[in-house]
Amino acid sequence: MSDFTLAGLSQGSQTSRFRQYRALLSHYLRPQAPRVIWMAVLLLVGIALELANPQIIRYFLDTAQSGGSSKPLLIAGVLFIAFAILQQGLTLGADYLSKAVGWTATNRLRADLALHCLRLDMPFHKSHTPGELIDRIDGDVSQLANFFSQFSIRILGDGLLVLGILALLFAENAWMGLGMLLYTAVTLLVLRYIQDLAVPRWAAERQAGALLYGYIEERISGAEEIRAAGAEAHAMRRLYEFSRLFTTRTRTAAVVAGLAYNLTNLVYVLGYAAGLAVAVYLYSRGQASLGAAYLITYYIGMLSTPLQSIRAQVEDLQQALANIQRIQELFALQPQVTAPGPGVRALPPEALSVEFERVSFKYADGAGEDDESSRANVLNDISFSLQPGRVLGILGRTGSGKSTLTRLLFHLYDPSQGTIRLGGADLREVSLADLRRRVGMVTQDVQLFQASLRENLAFFDASIPDTLLEQALQSLRLREWVQALPKGLDTPLAGGQSLSAGEAQLLAFARVLLKDPSLVILDEASSRLDPSTEALMERAIDRLFSGRTGVVIAHRLKTIQRADDLLILEEGRIIEYGPRLALAADPSSRFCHLLQTGLEEALA
Ligand SMILES: Nc1ncnc2c1ncn2[C@@H]1O[C@H](COP(=O)(O)OP(=O)(O)OP(=O)(O)O)[C@@H](O)[C@H]1O
Ligand SMILES: [Mg+2]
Repeated sequence: MSDFTLAGLSQGSQTSRFRQYRALLSHYLRPQAPRVIWMAVLLLVGIALELANPQIIRYFLDTAQSGGSSKPLLIAGVLFIAFAILQQGLTLGADYLSKAVGWTATNRLRADLALHCLRLDMPFHKSHTPGELIDRIDGDVSQLANFFSQFSIRILGDGLLVLGILALLFAENAWMGLGMLLYTAVTLLVLRYIQDLAVPRWAAERQAGALLYGYIEERISGAEEIRAAGAEAHAMRRLYEFSRLFTTRTRTAAVVAGLAYNLTNLVYVLGYAAGLAVAVYLYSRGQASLGAAYLITYYIGMLSTPLQSIRAQVEDLQQALANIQRIQELFALQPQVTAPGPGVRALPPEALSVEFERVSFKYADGAGEDDESSRANVLNDISFSLQPGRVLGILGRTGSGKSTLTRLLFHLYDPSQGTIRLGGADLREVSLADLRRRVGMVTQDVQLFQASLRENLAFFDASIPDTLLEQALQSLRLREWVQALPKGLDTPLAGGQSLSAGEAQLLAFARVLLKDPSLVILDEASSRLDPSTEALMERAIDRLFSGRTGVVIAHRLKTIQRADDLLILEEGRIIEYGPRLALAADPSSRFCHLLQTGLEEALA
């Protein structure tokens, strides 16, 4: 992608950081160069008009006072109005363009960030709540709109406006010019000081906001469990705590910012009063005409606008820099699973063999590594090998590490130790794209989207024709089931609520079939199925595994009977492994024992 994402990010020196900001700006602004140029032209012409307008009034006043003919007065009046209207028009145009530039740039940045996050792996997504990600992708970026669209031009324009005003004041009276120069310098310094009061408080406020929204998001998505566990009071209590933090921080920031605003106004009022006094003084001593006196007060009054705007822009810059840094930190995150280097290996085209060699694994615990870094491995010294086309059934109590094993096989995580091979190739040397294309995985909780059944099946790939979808459904014997739905393929699915766990898995089977992988990993839904769904499931699994290598975490006897090999896990270790028939025939085997005592009960 772009150069700024790859540069050394957090530890860069000041200058290299500014180079990165420039790179970021130019990356997102270059594509809209014409718009940016137009916007600059409009803004600058607007400033010129702003400076010129008081000169007309001055001319008007002086002409009126000297009692000449009324025609020049009329012309001056019309000119004044025309300039004012033109200036409004220019401002409108510049605003429109700057919004367009800002939105276009930030939307591209949002899209890049979203894509980047999608490419990051499970450890990342496990350690960042969706709410936090929304805040980082949308919140941080939104605040950059002004930085993208206006910052440089505004600072330039405001600077020019201040210089112009000072130059014109100098032209009126050198002492006056000097005094106002001093005033401007002092004001900018004071504003800078005042502004430093508010910025860190706003940062603290934003942080509290991110916490609150992250918390709300997580609780809402877990609402069902919270209700089931009767944990509403606890959830609400935490909500109050987060809200309180957010409220107090917002209040502090707002109070300080309000104070800063009033202080700022005080500075302007003082400046204006001083200017007024000087103008009156000069006028009363006959050193300035009425028009000149008006001009002086007008310009001094006008000075506050660009000074205020410079202040706001600098404040915005600080905010933007903080946001850019957070954005760059996010961009700098790389997937933790090993990506193949130059020695990338292609998977063999046929059904894939699977081999685990002394694999051990434990989950890194995201942020808080300190307290439980000594936590036990979830998988210990796992070794097995599965021939192409065979099906491995995995049994084990809940929490024994079955799902974890499949996650390693799908390369969602790297093993802590040992090697996993797929079709003879070390997973670390296989490109993720290749792996994901060739391996189909159905997890315990299938993710359904709020969309039609068709879109859910095809993963929103509109290029997949209905015939293909129906073929997949047909081969899973699901066509009748779909036809029985009120609107067939167009039936809307409402975010996971509308299908039973078994039906959702059936749908996931169809997704996998459409992909036509060489290895299928199936983490069977542990919920009990009604007999008709169960029958469907049986045929579907038959179809799913035919001609493919399979790894299935089985909860039902029927599924296990389909396995060629069996592996029993206990607390992350293999306690039994071998061909199913051999194990079933061996009365001393754990499997044989399980069969006698009632397997489904033992595994539930
Ligand atoms: N993302 C994770 N981060 C940290 N620990 C995890 C994570 N996922 C699972 N674990 C832990 O790893 C262990 C094995 O979990 P796993 O999901 O592999 O069990 P399982 O055998 O699939 O159980 P079940 O039959 O209930 O699905 C559990 O102790 C669990 O708490
Ligand atoms: Mg599991």
